[in-house]
Amino acid sequence: MLRTHTCGELRMSNVNEQVTLTGWVQRVRDKGSLVWIDLRDRYGITQLFLEEGKSNPEVLEQARNCGREFVVSASGTVTERQSKNDKMPTGDIEIKVEKLELLNASKTPPFTIEEETDGGDDLRMKYRYLDLRRASVRQNLQLRHKMAQQTRLYLDGQNFIEVETPVLIKSTPEGARDFVVPSRMNQGEFYALPQSPQTFKQLLMVSGFDRYYQIVKCFRDEDLRADRQPEFTQIDCEMSFIEQEDILNMFEGLVRHLFKQVKGIDIASVPRMTYDHAMKYYGSDKPDTRFEMKFVELNDVAKGKGFSIFDGAELVVGICASGCASYTRKQIDELTEFVKRPQVGAKGLVYARYNEDGTFKSSVDKFYDESALRLWATAMDAKPGDLLLILSGPEEKTRKQLSELRLHLGNQLGLRDKNKFSPLWVLDFPLFEWDEETQRYHAKHHPFTSPKREDIPLLDSDPGKVRANAYDMVLNGTEIGGGSIRIHDKATQQLMFKKLGFTDEEAKKQFGFLMEAFEYGAPPHGGIAFGFDRLCSLFGGVDSIRDFIAFPKNNAGRDVMIDSPSTIAESQLDELGIAVKENRS
Ligand code: AMO
Repeated sequence: MLRTHTCGELRMSNVNEQVTLTGWVQRVRDKGSLVWIDLRDRYGITQLFLEEGKSNPEVLEQARNCGREFVVSASGTVTERQSKNDKMPTGDIEIKVEKLELLNASKTPPFTIEEETDGGDDLRMKYRYLDLRRASVRQNLQLRHKMAQQTRLYLDGQNFIEVETPVLIKSTPEGARDFVVPSRMNQGEFYALPQSPQTFKQLLMVSGFDRYYQIVKCFRDEDLRADRQPEFTQIDCEMSFIEQEDILNMFEGLVRHLFKQVKGIDIASVPRMTYDHAMKYYGSDKPDTRFEMKFVELNDVAKGKGFSIFDGAELVVGICASGCASYTRKQIDELTEFVKRPQVGAKGLVYARYNEDGTFKSSVDKFYDESALRLWATAMDAKPGDLLLILSGPEEKTRKQLSELRLHLGNQLGLRDKNKFSPLWVLDFPLFEWDEETQRYHAKHHPFTSPKREDIPLLDSDPGKVRANAYDMVLNGTEIGGGSIRIHDKATQQLMFKKLGFTDEEAKKQFGFLMEAFEYGAPPHGGIAFGFDRLCSLFGGVDSIRDFIAFPKNNAGRDVMIDSPSTIAESQLDELGIAVKENRS
């Protein structure tokens, strides 16, 4: 070993010990006769100290010549510091340096490697290996490591077996586009990278594995957002001989275990809500339940008073912003502008102030007198001092718009505290989702999800109403996991493919292997997959999952550090039998 200790471990109890530390020079402070160096490694920072007249002049000169990020080995005696720093765990001591060895020099880094860095996003991504030297980024990855360890510990304790499934496969229908890989040995044919190991984990159930898990990379070619990466990681799980209730209990257990072991937080049992309830009261299938502000439908009290916008609307629906009657005109205008942004898409916002003195002032006073507005307030359970905010229009759209407003207000009012955790099961998702573009139904979760037995008769008469044995786990308004009880017989699976518009031939070509497997004794089974990056970022209280991935892609799906994707040599293309258009750049 080149060192006796790390840069994070020396304390007063080590005073007078002879030590050797290795690490990176964070900073050199040269105050004429005194020189200090902050030496950093993964474990912390320790101060090195040299003094003219006392330290060896050559070593002092060496110290003065150290640049930022030089890699050095420093040997000397641990001494008590004159001025202590209680913000650093090693802040009581420093090393009186007797020997300094330069292990490697460094160019001046393109940004300062400190918490308050001057490096912008792009620069830090290009030099990600330097960004990873910063404590906060490293701590995120340490949290991720701990989450993975604890996940394995819990699942292993529950008899789950970790099995690796292949990465070069063929398309799995999880709703996004596939990344494809050409095959040299089978020219003109392509592998697809898994969007998830869905079909393989089901096959493992047919094989009798009974309880499977895998912390696994998945690949989806979709538009990126803060909580989406083209390659991301799932905690993917599957169980046999279970019902939905067993899955909910098992994975509620996992989440509680993680909260307890990683954050020291006791989570009571995870509440449950149906999809219909979530949509009706929060306008979202992933409601942020850290705060209330539920939707109240106002059709009965708001229609029929001559206000044509409400009269002509399918739905009039509002939320009550508690204590916000004192909002200024400017603040209300800002909310109106917010809902009118193209991303939200509302035409306007109606408000009614329920003043502290019990009077009302609304944007629609022309149509609604005090007694009419009082009916709104009663319906919304409002108190004097509250602000009522109302949207109207087509049902589904309006609920989505109000959901955006609710979250916006939640942010504004400080109701979305990152240190508060509100997990939730959302149950009974619809089996199908109507796709306007293709004018047909798609599987809301995936085509292997089973319908609720009592809804099977609706498969023909009213497919949109069929509920699935499907569930999501939501944490603070983010979907962190989703799964379902699967179809495990060939006939139902065939029927499902038919309902989704597959011809028998197409179904056989894509999923013949699964349907055949179902003919060899498939057990009843079901499972779930958690978005591991999302879970880590929520535990870390950070919005972007990128901060929890060692080498993430940017929003254009590029790795700017290694410059990927990139073109490949003509000879490689020839070997793969791929012709590329002339004007490729
Ligand atoms: P699903 O598609 O719901 O289910 O994915 C499971 C979880 O993975 C996370 N996730 C993502 N995280 C980061 N970037 C992405 N692009 C991304 N896409 C999804 C989400 C999501 O809840 N095979 C099924 C699971 C099953 O049925 O067992 C599946 O993949 O947190």
